Amino acid sequence: MNLLNEKLPVGIIGSGAMGSGIAQVAAMAGHPVKIMDTSREALEKSRNNLGNIIQKLKEKGKIEDTGELINKFEFVTDLGAFSSCKLVIEAIVENLEIKKKVFKEVEGIVAADCILASNTSSLSIASIAAACNAPERVIGIHFFNPAPLMALVEIIPAVQTAEALPNHVCQLMKQWGKAPVIVKDTPGFIVNRVARPFYGEALRIMEEGIADMETIDAAMTGLGGFRMGPFALMDYIGHDVNYVVTETVFQSFFYDSRYKPSFSQKRLLEAGWLGRKSGRGFYNYAPEAQVKPPVQDNALQNMIFDRILFMLINEAVDALHWNIASKEDIDLAMTKGVNYPKGLLQWCDELGADYVLAGLESLYGHYKEDRYRPSPLLRKYGIEKRRFFDGTF
Ligand code: NAI
Repeated sequence: MNLLNEKLPVGIIGSGAMGSGIAQVAAMAGHPVKIMDTSREALEKSRNNLGNIIQKLKEKGKIEDTGELINKFEFVTDLGAFSSCKLVIEAIVENLEIKKKVFKEVEGIVAADCILASNTSSLSIASIAAACNAPERVIGIHFFNPAPLMALVEIIPAVQTAEALPNHVCQLMKQWGKAPVIVKDTPGFIVNRVARPFYGEALRIMEEGIADMETIDAAMTGLGGFRMGPFALMDYIGHDVNYVVTETVFQSFFYDSRYKPSFSQKRLLEAGWLGRKSGRGFYNYAPEAQVKPPVQDNALQNMIFDRILFMLINEAVDALHWNIASKEDIDLAMTKGVNYPKGLLQWCDELGADYVLAGLESLYGHYKEDRYRPSPLLRKYGIEKRRFFDGTF
């Protein structure tokens, strides 16, 4: 089996937001794609959405023939249609028991050389692979939403995964026009782990009454160059997703206080104020709603920006400390997966690890909370005044 040289059939399980997006990426890379969903309604929606997208791609001159691309898709309600697939990517509901059942079933249908992948954001690949008779063919391929537009793909080998598989999948993702990174099977992988302080520290600053959300958002976009501030971004992602990811990461890290969820965000979720999609989250999205201006205080905004950035850098450095991924991949993940203006390790180099370490020590000194402990690697680099990207690491 060679997925790299031949455009072999790919199967996608789940035709929701992610499944449809991944199917589009695979089809545009030249593969025939079978999309399976238990819901006929979801399949019909996916067929219509993909048809509209393909029409728009033609209008923009990005593809020549709509028919050729449309003909690559086959929509099915039975996994039996997957017997010829050489790669199956599962993107169904985030529920371990259901995923395990589906992996067990699909393994009985496909050939022995078919790769089985999960797009899970929060479950361990090892636990999904354990459902299979041949767990060595199971791997995580984590796309970002919307899959056709976001370049990053996290490739996650489980402990059971065959040694050669991660590189093979990486090559394939490059052929699909993606920027793959290889990451250990740990909670949140790279992006959903390293990004946590962007939300968590912003929430804490607000909850302590140090600044309001408008000012925190302005500090991160204005001083930091982030495309959206933390509160606007949480509203955009939706609290049903963003809060749940935080809680899952917190639990999965055995309740490490660095990832502690916030009551303010939990209450929004409980109230059904999910963000943009429900018209109300931290901000009010009603047309007549007033926008409150941020507090114009440079010292305050600098303090906010530094505090959140120090926590983000500490998280990235700690991910490297635990060998979650390479330093290059950690930086690539944050720029290509969540559009950060630059990689956090590069940012640390620019500021100086000693400066970032001093900032964290000061926070720790003030709060005396484990949450603000500097990573051992940041401490080392700070004391030795080392850089991550000058070849000395
Ligand atoms: P979704 O809710 O939009 O779509 C899930 C689809 O799976 C639905 O159409 C549903 O009918 C179908 N489904 C449920 N059980 C099934 C089964 N047993 N067999 C076949 N189809 C079944 O969900 P979404 O957002 O596309 O997420 C799917 C997966 O991707 C989840 O594991 C999620 O954690 C992950 N993910 C989601 C991202 C996001 O931003 N939405 C980003 C990256 C990963």
